[in-house]
Amino acid sequence: MGRGLAGRTAIVTGAAGGIGAACARVLADRGAVVVGTDMRNPDDVVRAGLSEFTPVDITDAAAVHDFVETVASSYGDLALLVNAAGLYPSANLTEIGGDDWDRVLSANLKGPHLCTAAFARALVKTGRPGAVVNITSTAGFRARAGAAHYSASKAALNMLTRSQAIELARHGIRVNAVAPGYVKVGSTLNPISGDYERAVLAGIPLGRVGTPQDVAEAVAFLCGDAARWITGEVLVVDGGASAGNTQLPPSGAEEPVPCG
Ligand SMILES: NC(=O)c1ccc[n+]([C@@H]2O[C@H](COP(=O)([O-])OP(=O)(O)OC[C@H]3O[C@@H](n4cnc5c(N)ncnc54)[C@H](O)[C@@H]3O)[C@@H](O)[C@H]2O)c1
Repeated sequence: MGRGLAGRTAIVTGAAGGIGAACARVLADRGAVVVGTDMRNPDDVVRAGLSEFTPVDITDAAAVHDFVETVASSYGDLALLVNAAGLYPSANLTEIGGDDWDRVLSANLKGPHLCTAAFARALVKTGRPGAVVNITSTAGFRARAGAAHYSASKAALNMLTRSQAIELARHGIRVNAVAPGYVKVGSTLNPISGDYERAVLAGIPLGRVGTPQDVAEAVAFLCGDAARWITGEVLVVDGGASAGNTQLPPSGAEEPVPCG
C-alpha cells in the first residue's frame, strides 16, 4: 500500500462509525495523520489508529468552527476532510415529524456544510490546497420506502458537493463525494433489518453487499494526487446496483447467442 498521503493531516467525521472508522484507517495506512471526530466515543481499536479524537456534534456551528481551528493550528499541514457522519433512520413518510426531519437534515446536510466551510476558511487563510470527500448515498438518486428524509438529505448533499467544488476550486480545494450502496456496518445507531439486506443483495450484480473498506478505498483515491483533476464528482460505489435492473431476463424471444 502506497504512502501517497504522507505529510497531510485529515479530519474524519463519523470516525466512531463503520464507514468513518474505515476511512480513518485507510487514510492513516496511506500516511496521513488522522484526527477523528464523532458525537460518540470510538472503540479502543479505532481510537488507537487515530492521532487524536475530539467529540463534536457536527450540527453545532460554533463547536465545529472551534474544533477545525484548533486542528488547523495544531497541525500546519491540514489538507483533507472526510464528511462521513450521518443518520439513516427508517420511518414511513406519514410518520416523519418536524423534529425527525430536522435531525436527519441537520446531521446529513447542515453538518457537512459547517465542517467544509470551517475547513475551507482554515485552508484559505494559509493558502494551502486540500480535498474534501462527502459520503452521500445511492439513496440520493434512487428513492425507497421509509427513507424520504434520508434520500432528500443525500440528494441535497450531492448538489452541495458540486456547489462546494465550484466555489472552492479557485483556492485549490477539490470537493467530491462517494455514494455507497448498502454497506454492512452493524450500526446500533442506524440498524438495518435482515429482510432489507436480503432484498438489496438480490439487486447487486457483483453478488455481495459492500464493506466499509470498499468505500474507504474510493475515498482515499479521491483524497490523493491521482484525483488531482477531479472535482464536483459523485462516485458511486455499490457493486453495480444502480447500473441497471438485475431482475429482468434478456428481452429477446430467443436466448442471446454467445459471442465468439
Ligand atoms: N452503511 C450504509 O449502507 C451506507 C450507505 C450509504 C451511505 N452511508 C452513509 O455513510 C455514512 C456513515 O454511515 P455508517 O454506515 O458508517 O453508519 P454508523 O452509524 O456506523 O456511523 C455514523 C456515525 O455518524 C455519527 N454522527 C451522526 N450524527 C452526528 C452528529 N450530529 N455529530 C457527530 N457525529 C454524528 C454517529 O455517532 C456514528 O458514529 C453516513 O453518512 C451514511 O449516511 C451508509
